[in-house]
Amino acid sequence: MMDIRFAPLEGLTDTIYRRTHYQHFGGVSKYYIPFISPTQHHVFTPKELRAIGPEHNAGIPTVPQILAKDAEHFLWAADELAKMGYDEVNLNIGCPSGTVSAKGKGAGMLRDLYALDSFLHEVCAKASVAVSVKTRIGFESPDEWPEILSVLCEYPLKEIIIHPRTRTGFYKVGTLYPETFRRAAENKLSLVYNGDLFTVTDCASIQAQYPGIPLMMGRGLVCNPALAREAAGGAPLEKQELRNFHDSLWEAYCQERPLDQAHSRMRELMIYMSCCFEAAHKAAKNVRKSNPNTYEEAIDRLFEHELACPPCFSQQGIGL
Ligand SMILES: Cc1cc2nc3c(=O)[nH]c(=O)nc-3n(C[C@H](O)[C@H](O)[C@H](O)COP(=O)(O)O)c2cc1C
Repeated sequence: MMDIRFAPLEGLTDTIYRRTHYQHFGGVSKYYIPFISPTQHHVFTPKELRAIGPEHNAGIPTVPQILAKDAEHFLWAADELAKMGYDEVNLNIGCPSGTVSAKGKGAGMLRDLYALDSFLHEVCAKASVAVSVKTRIGFESPDEWPEILSVLCEYPLKEIIIHPRTRTGFYKVGTLYPETFRRAAENKLSLVYNGDLFTVTDCASIQAQYPGIPLMMGRGLVCNPALAREAAGGAPLEKQELRNFHDSLWEAYCQERPLDQAHSRMRELMIYMSCCFEAAHKAAKNVRKSNPNTYEEAIDRLFEHELACPPCFSQQGIGL
């Protein structure tokens, strides 16, 4: 049975999205919460509490993620999360954002391996909960990977999730270095593969190379919410279930958020999901340009299109 994880996607996979996905599709063994970023004040913001509050994640296998470069702040957050009942926290050392990495956080931590080493030393010695890591394979070049890997290897990390791009690669097509994963797999580490798994064939190819390795999917799974189920041998996406999923999301956002926020979140999600439809460029554009009053009509038009075969994420499809 394939073990598939839902990647954290800030701005997309929030509590409402994760809960609704779990109810409609399943096929995912763990949902990662987009990062929270503890500061010296040692309080969670209301937005963070909405994301991590156990009452919002009840019954759903969920792993919170922390973005921090100070062991003290990480440990504070990890401890609070342990008290809430989480048994694992994930450290983000992959976020490529300019503001994040300029502060030495996220992928910025890959630039100073001495600091990363002492951070992990302290965190692994003191954390009251298992720690896993989600990493890129370098800041500027894949040549940095052997050294990064040798630091990570020293610590009892629960898992290492590898997105085999450098920070400079952001999320661009053609910037993956899958061979760096092979190097990690030669060590006796618990690894998870992440990056550009957009079709069942993509998943099968990684599984064939690394039997039993867990897979983490992000954009491909937001685009086709049945991808994890199908990759694990289940049924492919059907149009009616996509419609039902959409309607449940829209209803939940409208109930729990102000209308303009509900609409902008749905529009963002539908930019991804509209890649599922055949020849729907114009209809997708109308969803993108919609306002809260014209949104439902634009969605009805989009759903007049048939599903593409296979429904598949493409950067071009989302206008990048
Ligand atoms: C909009 C967006 C938001 C993201 N937010 C996070 C995040 O909060 N934490 C994280 O570790 N990675 C984040 N990522 C990276 C994804 O988790 C994942 O590593 C990346 O998209 C590659 O996987 P994919 O090709 O399956 O999408 C984000 C990516 C995107 C596109």
